[in-house]
Amino acid sequence: MGRKSLYLLIVGILIAYYIYTPLPDNVEEPWRIMWINAHLKTMQNLATFVELLGLHHFMDSFKVVGSFYEVPATSDENVTVTETKFNNILVRVYVPKRKSEALRRGLFYIHGGGWCIGSAALSDYDLLSRWTADRLDAVVVSTNYRLAPKYHFPIQFEDVYNALRWFLRKKVLAKYGVNPERIGISGDSAGGNLAAAVTQQVYHLKKAMLSRRHVPVESSHLFKFVNWSSLLPERFIKGHVYNDPNYGSSELAKKYPGFLDVRAAPLLADDNKLHGLPLTYVITCQYDPLRDDGLMYVTRLRNAGVQVTHNHVEDGFHGAFSYLGLKISHRLINQYIEWLKENL
Ligand SMILES: *[C@@H]1O[C@H](CO)[C@@H](O)[C@H](O)[C@H]1NC(C)=O
Ligand SMILES: *[C@@H]1O[C@H](CO)[C@@H](O)[C@H](O)[C@H]1NC(C)=O
Repeated sequence: MGRKSLYLLIVGILIAYYIYTPLPDNVEEPWRIMWINAHLKTMQNLATFVELLGLHHFMDSFKVVGSFYEVPATSDENVTVTETKFNNILVRVYVPKRKSEALRRGLFYIHGGGWCIGSAALSDYDLLSRWTADRLDAVVVSTNYRLAPKYHFPIQFEDVYNALRWFLRKKVLAKYGVNPERIGISGDSAGGNLAAAVTQQVYHLKKAMLSRRHVPVESSHLFKFVNWSSLLPERFIKGHVYNDPNYGSSELAKKYPGFLDVRAAPLLADDNKLHGLPLTYVITCQYDPLRDDGLMYVTRLRNAGVQVTHNHVEDGFHGAFSYLGLKISHRLINQYIEWLKENL
């Protein structure tokens, strides 16, 4: 073997090693997923390198790359798309073009991206909102929010909450022809977390006016809300026992109060806050670090008497909902839109 072909072979093996990621047998389109993963890994490595050079913060590089995937707010033959501000928060509004006699359903959507990246303008989120508006014949509001690390919690929660409250005003709903009785709040990943948190807040607000607010619980009592021994379905527990949780120092909790804040961790909400929450649809994925949080939230909602449709995706992984280039994403979006058609 010549030296050149030996080098070529070594480079080939290195590239294959870089791209290859062992995946569970039941995932669909494994090579595509590996390809996306290699792409993300490369971005991560480059961003780390750029940060080491002291040029940019890691997340800023990600944001620059992300901005290449953004598309302008343009209408198509079926949906009118506009960009506007709700309470100073930039949102995209998708309104079906076809005539409607009745008021339409409204869906308020919150994008994911680990609180640090993402925007309503990303092509996949833009397409998801178009499809939802068109197929559900609904008005979709896809909101932005200011991102970490520049903006710290609770800014993200507040931006989303402020935009939502703006949307829920009578005047705004009337302007877009939305039925105030048929409004849903939805999101994926960090956006799903925010959707749960703002939903608790906004419905809670109504109830707080009618009844006295409940007494806040001591922090240690919060552990029962994340006790997987009692909250996870049997087949996910696999013999693990949730005993003696570790306590952190109270100084730490004081310094970072966000950890225990239900606006960041809606799973920690008291039962009183969950009672009376609206009909809920939860997607959890088997291969997702957020899986158990989602499963436990389903149990907690059901224990509090909330009606929940739970879609556990056995071959799903984190982000599966929003990679529109993958078949699994279409499957999940179809199921989600079908559920919304019947229930919103
Ligand atoms: C508009 O709706 C029609 C009919 O459902 C569909 O065939 C077409 O692909 C849609 N256009 C876009 C841009 O989605
Ligand atoms: C978690 O729940 C299990 C089963 O209900 C219970 O035995 C255990 O004491 C709980 N653990 C904590 C730390 O609350």
